[in-house]
Amino acid sequence: MLNNKQKYIVGTVDELPPGERKIVNVGGRSIGVFNVDGEFFALRNRCPHGGAPLCEGVLSGFVQSKGRGDYSYARKGEILRCPWHQWEFDIKTGQSWFDPVKTRVRAYETKVEAGCTLADAGCEMKEGPYVAETFSVSLDKDYIVLEI
Ligand code: FES
Repeated sequence: MLNNKQKYIVGTVDELPPGERKIVNVGGRSIGVFNVDGEFFALRNRCPHGGAPLCEGVLSGFVQSKGRGDYSYARKGEILRCPWHQWEFDIKTGQSWFDPVKTRVRAYETKVEAGCTLADAGCEMKEGPYVAETFSVSLDKDYIVLEI
């Protein structure tokens, strides 16, 4: 099976520390990229309920209990709440807590790749008639790569 996904560099790891997000426009779509405890996740920035900019919502967790008098706060920063009507989505899967079977927001794959591997991948440019003075350039950071 062919992998027709396009890769987009959406930023450096340095600029998106844990708990932060970045909303980017790639391939004609608005997508939110989130750093959750050092792991990166991406969701479409459009709520399936009413079209709100979902990725601008509050990040939270949820309260769980094994029984009466036992409560704990779990999955801090992994639940995204829509800014319009407060529906909640799992940031790792896009699944809704309100209606997990039928309602979800599109989740995208993200990776962290070293700048040098991206430079090696290169792009296919054809050689032209003009020659310019060139200097060597290295990419020494880690980049967040989004596949859509
Ligand atoms: S638009 Fe998101 S919950 Fe209604």
